[in-house]
Amino acid sequence: MKNIVILISGGGSNMAAIVRVAQRDNWRETLGAQVSAVLSNRADAGGLQLAREQNIATGVVDHKAYASREAFDAALAQAIDWQQPALVVLAGFMRILTPHFVSRYTGRLVNIHPSLLPAFPGLHTHQRAIDAGCTVAGVTVHQVTSELDHGPILDQAVVPVLPGDTAQALAARILSQEHLIYPRAIARLLRGL
Ligand code: GRF
Repeated sequence: MKNIVILISGGGSNMAAIVRVAQRDNWRETLGAQVSAVLSNRADAGGLQLAREQNIATGVVDHKAYASREAFDAALAQAIDWQQPALVVLAGFMRILTPHFVSRYTGRLVNIHPSLLPAFPGLHTHQRAIDAGCTVAGVTVHQVTSELDHGPILDQAVVPVLPGDTAQALAARILSQEHLIYPRAIARLLRGL
């Protein structure tokens, strides 16, 4: 069985979308894959409860308990490696990962970023797209490399920026696309593994 480990920091709606599609499309049978664990750097991440309700193993590696980024990443890698994952999926995981961590999972570490990369890496993507006068915005699924929000693009979706859009309205429009393309990109990757 190909194990998928999902890392979250917050509400986990992308994680929930992946779990939903994995069940709907019976990934166990069709892809020989399962979401085996959901890990978070925050104990209060809403998505953890959601994962527990689906009988998925959960874990917390609290970054505040570690003196350095390297020490945190080492502890996180240990928790991940328990699952011997085929794929490690960042889904709203709000920590910058060290190059050492990233190289450990080369080719099997993916991220979703709410912009049309290479435009707007980093934070506040929706407001930045509005401020720049973009008429379209969107979301990118990409392989993770040591450069933040870079790496080979696996899939993208485009949405319009509407007159009078707020960052919140644009984020909601993009998020509904995230929930479509992330499970699809993961399924495609799993087929190739
Ligand atoms: C999403 O917009 C994702 O693209 C970004 O963080 C947000 C996470 O949302 N990286 P959720 O926790 O999956 O609901």
